[in-house]
Amino acid sequence: MTTARRRHGCAAARPSTAFTSATLAIIVFFSAACAASADPAPAPGPTVAASHALYSYEEHTPTGPDNWGSLEPDWAICRDGKEQSPIDICKVEAAQDMGPLEHTYTAGDCAVQNRGHDFIVKWKEGNGKLTVEKKDYVLQQVHWHVPSEHTINGTRFDMEMHMVHQDSAKARAVVSVLFSTKQPGHPSKPLTGLGPYFKRLAGKNNMDEDVKELVDPSPWVDKSSGYYRYEGSLTTPPCSEGIIWTIMSKVKHVTEEQVKLQAGVSTIVEANNRPAQKINDRVVRYYEGKSAKSGEEKKT
Ligand SMILES: *[C@@H]1O[C@H](CO)[C@@H](O)[C@H](O)[C@H]1NC(C)=O
Repeated sequence: MTTARRRHGCAAARPSTAFTSATLAIIVFFSAACAASADPAPAPGPTVAASHALYSYEEHTPTGPDNWGSLEPDWAICRDGKEQSPIDICKVEAAQDMGPLEHTYTAGDCAVQNRGHDFIVKWKEGNGKLTVEKKDYVLQQVHWHVPSEHTINGTRFDMEMHMVHQDSAKARAVVSVLFSTKQPGHPSKPLTGLGPYFKRLAGKNNMDEDVKELVDPSPWVDKSSGYYRYEGSLTTPPCSEGIIWTIMSKVKHVTEEQVKLQAGVSTIVEANNRPAQKINDRVVRYYEGKSAKSGEEKKT
């Protein structure tokens, strides 16, 4: 089985492939993650479209994450980059001056698409904006990873949502929300609303469907939550760097059924989380949130 993943402990700020049983022991594998990663699935067949056809998530296979950098000339940074994502978030620097996350999303027309490895919700005209360090980024699309790509002190969550934004110079900022199934009976509202689309598009690579109602992502990101901020990359090829990452520290609820619906994107049972990358010289800054009590939905 390939469920053991290489870890980089908090102490491993220098490039290192430290692999200790202590760090392994604190990794939490949820049932969904186990089900998704236990199957040594073959590389995707020719039914998987576009660039998604060319890579997979199964480690130590020709198209797996450790080989992404050699699959295409443009993807070399997946292997050679020094600021890759995701990372395990352990050592953080307090940065209360960053202040609460600022976004002004609005309801807009969108479509749901099956991209082979994930579902994506794409707004027709960009959809409101995120402000980071006085710069505005327009929301382009949202997609989901099962299980989570980012981990906190070695803890992997059941699902992670990525909201991808871009400014006028094509610089990108991604906001990430982590989800846990630990409290049954608490579905994620956005996933409930879009559920019928995910159901109809399950296993239908490259198909899309317009969403009938306008979709407003503003409740998806809780402005009162704290967050972690660091500079990283896309977590899929071409692994482009220079991306400002914001990982919300408040973990949200999702049901196992909703997680399964996301995992059902492909008929090939595979997890779609890239393993943790080296942090190298990077610093993760932490804005704690307005009050300690805002951690109601917090996992720990
Ligand atoms: C991870 O654990 C260490 C040691 O307990 C702690 O100092 C650190 O703040 C934790 N990091 C996060 C992101 O929770």
